[in-house]
Amino acid sequence: MSTASDSRARPIIAVLGGTGAEGGGLALRWAHAGYPVVIGSRNPDKAARVCSRINAQLGTTLVSHDGYQGAAGTAHIVVLTVPYSAQRGTVEEIRDRLAGKILVDTTVPLVPPKVARVQLPEGGSAVAAIQALLGDTVKVVSAFQNVPAHLLQDLGHEVECDVLVCGDDVQARETVIKLAADIGLRGLHAGPIANSAAAEALTSVLISINSRYKVQSAGIRITRMDTSEHG
Ligand SMILES: NC(=O)c1ccc[n+]([C@@H]2O[C@H](COP(=O)([O-])OP(=O)(O)OC[C@H]3O[C@@H](n4cnc5c(N)ncnc54)[C@H](OP(=O)(O)O)[C@@H]3O)[C@@H](O)[C@H]2O)c1
Repeated sequence: MSTASDSRARPIIAVLGGTGAEGGGLALRWAHAGYPVVIGSRNPDKAARVCSRINAQLGTTLVSHDGYQGAAGTAHIVVLTVPYSAQRGTVEEIRDRLAGKILVDTTVPLVPPKVARVQLPEGGSAVAAIQALLGDTVKVVSAFQNVPAHLLQDLGHEVECDVLVCGDDVQARETVIKLAADIGLRGLHAGPIANSAAAEALTSVLISINSRYKVQSAGIRITRMDTSEHG
């Protein structure tokens, strides 16, 4: 069970779309690690249900909910977990709440029905486009594109995959690497925000692998890394 003292020094994380699969998994894991989490949702009833379920599961009160603007305004770090089709509109809705903050964007620009085919948007990366939209006052960090939601939701198992963390601000990447480490994931500095294109594309590769080999949760591991040496 998390205690108030665990969460005292921790930043508040807003998970916009935290009622969904990926956001719900991240919210659960961060609350389990002692972070105060605000689930941002368009639907208060749905959000209240998700919130109660996670708090009951963890025996905590760390998870609350609000609308997208309210959640983004309350939080120190904002995490975006909405579908690609809603990504830009959601960011435009909350942009005046983001100044000076880190926006962690998990978006994969899948284009149904061919989700196993890499179909990156014009310009290369869905997340880099958000950094371009927001300008320098917001530090956009791309992460978690290759982490399957159902693994995040299962606290009984370690997730066991690496997280490529891309962003133009090294300190912001470092913050997100710590957020990943606190939920048992190894985050790696993977370069500037433009490199997010590789992480976004990899998800379709993983979906192909899952389908071909009849597995559910192929993930990535970067080999020959000793992060204790490389910092
Ligand atoms: N699923 C995965 O394994 C996985 C892995 C890595 C990355 N991602 C990325 O995470 C994001 C969310 O994926 P997901 O699988 O978690 O999706 P999901 O289960 O459908 O949840 C997405 C959430 O986004 C919110 N939302 C906002 N605008 C929406 C709209 N126009 N239509 C539908 N939902 C909308 C909804 O919350 P409210 O209704 O409460 O507002 C919904 O619960 C995507 O960008 C995806 O690429 C997913």
